[in-house]
Amino acid sequence: MLSNLDGGVHLDDAMEVSPQVPVHGSDDDAREGESTRALLRAAAERAANYLESLSARPVVPTAAAVAALARLDAPLPQHGSDALQTLAMLDELVSPATVAMAGPRFFGFVIGGSLPAALAANWLAGAWDQNAAFGSVTPGVARLEQSALRRLVALFELPRETAAGFVTGATVANFTALAAARHSVLARAGWNVEADGLFGAPPITVIAGEEAHPALFKSLGMLGMGRERIVRVACDSQGRMRADALPPIAGPTILCLQAGNVNSGAFDPFGPLIEQARLGGAWVHVDGAFGMWAKATASLRRLVDHMEAADSWSTDAHKWLNVPYDSGLAFVRDAHALKAAMAISADYLPQAGGDRNPSDFTPEMSRRARGVEVWAALQSLGRAGIAEMIERNCRQARRFAAGLSAKGYAVLNDVVLNQVLVSFGDAARTRRVVSRLQAEGTCWCGITLWQGHTAMRISVSNWSTGDQDVELSLEAMLRAAASV
Ligand SMILES: Cc1ncc(COP(=O)(O)O)c(C=O)c1O
Repeated sequence: MLSNLDGGVHLDDAMEVSPQVPVHGSDDDAREGESTRALLRAAAERAANYLESLSARPVVPTAAAVAALARLDAPLPQHGSDALQTLAMLDELVSPATVAMAGPRFFGFVIGGSLPAALAANWLAGAWDQNAAFGSVTPGVARLEQSALRRLVALFELPRETAAGFVTGATVANFTALAAARHSVLARAGWNVEADGLFGAPPITVIAGEEAHPALFKSLGMLGMGRERIVRVACDSQGRMRADALPPIAGPTILCLQAGNVNSGAFDPFGPLIEQARLGGAWVHVDGAFGMWAKATASLRRLVDHMEAADSWSTDAHKWLNVPYDSGLAFVRDAHALKAAMAISADYLPQAGGDRNPSDFTPEMSRRARGVEVWAALQSLGRAGIAEMIERNCRQARRFAAGLSAKGYAVLNDVVLNQVLVSFGDAARTRRVVSRLQAEGTCWCGITLWQGHTAMRISVSNWSTGDQDVELSLEAMLRAAASV
């Protein structure tokens, strides 16, 4: 499928821009154009003001800002508002009620911000409003997305023949890749799952670690493979699947591994697990929602050694690549399996012909060209910029761990990536510290349960987080802990 990714456009090369063809319209058109321009300028101005406020404002909104949202309960008005006024309502009512997730001191879940180039690309792509389903109909974005996918396959050092698709996030990326897995293991057993469904199909054994992300089980459930039927393999103290606990593999089998545990950041040992899976003929899938990005660095890439020996991979761009939501990626070594699971055709739809139809590789047919922001992020950072961002966030995570443990608080995980788990004592005390920290507003961290212990979770994955933000946040954490 490389030929599909490798469409022959080399966007690194200087591009010649042809002069704009003048379009003559009426005075009304001109006035309309002027007011659209004024509106977009106003939106840009408001967005820039918002972003500039993020570093100084509390991460959480005030109670008054949240209470003001009651105005949104108003019914649909009979007559519409002027667009500038609509924009002002959005900004004045909702901006103050947002959480500063895009800012440098939000450490909850695994949340990236938006790189300036990615955000600007998102605006431009919004203006383009391309339906990215068909290569021949929207050649510009189709080729751009191919370029981004080709670059990602190279960055992650996946097999050259890998096929890929842009989806909404890692949950749907898992769904997409696992649909290809389901196709492949059943096809090998002589069953066509797309044609005949799962009724009467040979059973598939699905194996995943005890510490696999719930999104994986959701995807498997949606694919009819039963959340409760999955064979769960024991993990070690860091949440890594134990290779010695892998059951014998026989018959149609899918083994699901993980690059980056959502709590500890730990990686399953790919080498021994994939070797055993290969002997049993299983399909191996890697959920690498954020951990896969370790591959882009010199200092962390050993964590994903042998990852490329799997059959499929999923990751997010809206996490560590720092593009706007919603942006996930599904990669499948066997392009035929992915296409068999996802392809669509109808008499009125353009057939792929020489072009790659993106809708043959994703669950969606119509979709926005979310690859535009991915391409812009990759282009603006380059390999060195991506590595610097990932390594800096991991160094910052280690700084949090060192600063908290120096004051006697227990760090519960080996900080191998960007995730830190901290206990401030018993569960009740840890919860009180985190509530105090969240309310104070310097930074935001969440709560989790890690192997029976309640812990504060720190996840560092924002491009704009500076060392000064880490020091400010560390002081806030220590203040919260001292006050409880
Ligand atoms: C390992 C893993 N898989 C899947 C997901 C789900 O990602 P998304 O919310 O983008 O669907 C996450 C989210 O944190 C994750 O950490």
